Amino acid sequence: MINLHIQNEKLLNDLLNRFELNEHEKKEFLQIAIPIIEHEEFQKRMNAEEFPHHAKVSLGEHIISDAILTYKLTKKKKWKKEEQKRAIRIALFHDLYELPWQNNDYKKKFFNKHGFTHPIEAAVNAATWYPELFKEEVEREIILDGIIHHMFPFPVRTLNDKDAELHNQEKFEKLPTNIKKNIIDSSKRKKVKSIAFSRSKYQEGRIVSKADKKIAWGKELKSFHGLLACVTGRNPKLEKKDK
Ligand SMILES: [Fe+2]
Ligand SMILES: [Fe+2]
Repeated sequence: MINLHIQNEKLLNDLLNRFELNEHEKKEFLQIAIPIIEHEEFQKRMNAEEFPHHAKVSLGEHIISDAILTYKLTKKKKWKKEEQKRAIRIALFHDLYELPWQNNDYKKKFFNKHGFTHPIEAAVNAATWYPELFKEEVEREIILDGIIHHMFPFPVRTLNDKDAELHNQEKFEKLPTNIKKNIIDSSKRKKVKSIAFSRSKYQEGRIVSKADKKIAWGKELKSFHGLLACVTGRNPKLEKKDK
């Protein structure tokens, strides 16, 4: 067990073991992941009561599982270190949306619901909470594009104006102009009215999209209720558990 000196140390070690990383691989992965995981906003999402994602899995556990699988896939494909690092960062950012998405009372227009808008919220939050990682131009474009199109072939909401009802619209307004432009441009690629159907332009984003589906479908989305909740944002099973 690696001594990490962060909360949720046990869960993180369990996940690394579940994916059968050797000691060298654990260190290589953690060097990239820890600075992101230890942020207080990420830590909040490790709490399954506060941020349930699919079934009994917390949002944080889902994100870390995606990131470890992404690491393993890039390793298998013998990617360069810088490509691998970008892919892991995209995975760690891809679902950092603003609010727990199941059973909240927000009434939104259909194409503004969680399934369509959460990648945009995640991109905005990642750029807000980890500004150092979005300074370099190429890095910034690849990472934002990967987050925004991670749900493909499920579409993403285009960001033309303020009518997307983002829960973190205020944070978006405060971002530097170049980041806002990256987010808007990326969300408009292959757009059809208010949504866009495009896979990520870059291999780093596409590999995360693949890992995300494997993780969600493999373990977390076995129930019909869970699946339906992804679209509607309402999960009756979770409500029953709460009562
Ligand atoms: Fe997602
Ligand atoms: Fe995800």
